[in-house]
Amino acid sequence: MPDIPVIAIDGPSGTGKGTVSGILATKLGWHLLDSGSLYRVLALTALNSGISLNDTDKLVQLLTTLNLRFESATEYSGASIILNDQDVSEDIREESCGNAASLVAALPEVRQTLLERQRKFRQAPGLVADGRDMGTIVFPTAQLKIFLTASAEERATRRYKQLIEKGINVNLRDLSADIAERDRRDKERVASPLRPAEDAVTIDTTGIKIQRVINRISALVEERFGSQPGFTR
Ligand code: DC
Repeated sequence: MPDIPVIAIDGPSGTGKGTVSGILATKLGWHLLDSGSLYRVLALTALNSGISLNDTDKLVQLLTTLNLRFESATEYSGASIILNDQDVSEDIREESCGNAASLVAALPEVRQTLLERQRKFRQAPGLVADGRDMGTIVFPTAQLKIFLTASAEERATRRYKQLIEKGINVNLRDLSADIAERDRRDKERVASPLRPAEDAVTIDTTGIKIQRVINRISALVEERFGSQPGFTR
């Protein structure tokens, strides 16, 4: 399994990780793991069933019974997330769900329970894995590790624009405060805190168009894996 190529893409929210990972996976024809969606689905289910976000035992039990599947990734937008035969792809993107996901993601037992499930995504011909601990914990043997960063201001503004485009009314100041709090929690937690792997390449995406970020990573992909069938920069 460690021979199957993995590109780990980590970093805080709003750095363009999801977009970059989706584009790379499509260009390469590789599988995609959006690991944040697992924490988001768990948080959504807990919220809907009245389970407290710090009740470790119940959350772990919930995880073992989750009837979850990922359906055919559409170009660049990742897979549809189907929970108990219902498409929850949109619901899990709500800010409230992101904040709740950050809380359940801080629990070591929850992370441990999800570890093997995530590692099963390492399938031929390769995997692009998007998250916070892809390069450090889940796929420490990933052949290419990228850590994306961007200024807090720019990340909040990007997220603000995304939500407004979706017709969701938010206040930029509240959003910035939420993002700062979530970042703090993700970085300071004891279990798998958000940090770059020692062998990660850090790319600051502040003020940079997504295409340039893709070009930079594509050059690294060619360097590490050689030219890939159908892969162009
Ligand atoms: O990437 P995202 O916004 O969908 O992630 C939602 C939350 O899940 C985020 O606050 C941190 C957590 N998360 C994590 O702890 N580890 C991951 N590999 C992915 C996400």
